[in-house]
Amino acid sequence: MFTRELTSPPLEACAVARANIALAKYWGKVDLERNLPAVPSLSITLDALTTKTSVRFDRSLDSDVFVLDDAAQTGRPLLRVQTMLDQVRQLSGIDLYAEVRSANAFPTAAGLASSASAFAALAAASVHAAGLGWNLPALSDLARRASASAARSVYGGFAKLPAGLPGQEVLSAQPIAGKEHWDLRVVIALTAKGPKGIGSTAGMEVTKATSPFYDAWVRWCPQAAERLEQAVLERDFEGLAHVAQQSALAMHACAMASSPSLLYFQPPTIRALQAVQHMQSEGLPVFATIDAGPHIKAVTLPAYADVIAERLRSVEGVHEVMQSALGSGVELCEAIG
Ligand code: PMV
Repeated sequence: MFTRELTSPPLEACAVARANIALAKYWGKVDLERNLPAVPSLSITLDALTTKTSVRFDRSLDSDVFVLDDAAQTGRPLLRVQTMLDQVRQLSGIDLYAEVRSANAFPTAAGLASSASAFAALAAASVHAAGLGWNLPALSDLARRASASAARSVYGGFAKLPAGLPGQEVLSAQPIAGKEHWDLRVVIALTAKGPKGIGSTAGMEVTKATSPFYDAWVRWCPQAAERLEQAVLERDFEGLAHVAQQSALAMHACAMASSPSLLYFQPPTIRALQAVQHMQSEGLPVFATIDAGPHIKAVTLPAYADVIAERLRSVEGVHEVMQSALGSGVELCEAIG
C-alpha cells in the first residue's frame, strides 16, 4: 500500500526503468479485467534497454498529454497512460491532469519497445510526483495492472511474478537476486523491422480460448518457474538454459496451435535459433528465448558474449545485434532535458 507523504507533493518527477526478458514465460491471464497472470514467471532485467519518463501534474492542463519519443500520442497508448494516472490520482487525492514525456534509449522501430520498462517508469514517476511514499511492492502492483511484465521491471537483476487468482486485488513481483548475484549477458539478434504482429493481450486470449495445449501449459509452468529459480540461486547455467529455452518454445508451441494460429517466428528467427542450438552442441554456454515477436535473445556468460554476437551477426536475415548486461530496478532520475 502507498502512504501519502505529509509534505506537499512535488507534482513532478522523472524515473528510469529497464526492460526485462522472461526466462520462465508468462502467457495467459487468469483474470483479464484485473490483468492477473495465469502462470508464474521469472525474468532478468536488462541494462541496455531503458525508458525514461517524466510526469508533471499541472493546473493549467485541461487533459492528460502523453509524448513518446517527441511524438504526441492518442488512442490506446494515451488511454493506457491515463488509466494508470487515474489510479494515482485516486490514491493521492490529486485532482490535476498530467503531462507525461517518455523516451526510449533504444530504437523504438526495432520492435523492442517494451511496455515493461514503460509502465514501471510511469508508475514510479507518477507516484513520486503525486507525493506517495516509495514502496516497491506497491509500485510493482500498480505497474502490473497496466502490463504484467512491467511488475518485474520494478526490480533489477532476477525477479519473479507469481500467478494470480481470479478476483485477487493485489499482486506484485518479488526480487530473487540482484544483478551482481550472477553476471549474465544477453545478445539480442534483431530479425525483422517494422511493427510487431498481434499484441500480447489479444494473443493470450486467443491461446486460452483455442489452443489444445493451453491447460497443459498452465499446469507445467509452476514447476518450470521453480526449477529456474533454483538454477538462478545456484548459478547453474546448464539448468537455467535447459528450462528457459523449453519455456520459450513451449509458450510458442502453445500459441502456434491456437486458431487462428499465432506464429511470431520469421525465417531468420528459425535460423538464429538453429545457430544457438548449433553453438550448444559445440559446448558453448548459451540458450535462446523468444517473446511475442521475431527476435532472438541469446543468454550467455560474459566471456562468450562477443563470440555469440559474431555468430548471430552472420545469420542470414539478422540485421542488428545488441548486447546487454543485467540492470537495476526502477529509479528516480533527472528530468528529461
Ligand atoms: O505483460 P505483457 O503484456 O508485456 O506480456 C508479456 C508477454 C511475454 O513477453 C511474451 C512473456 C513475459 O513473461 O514477458
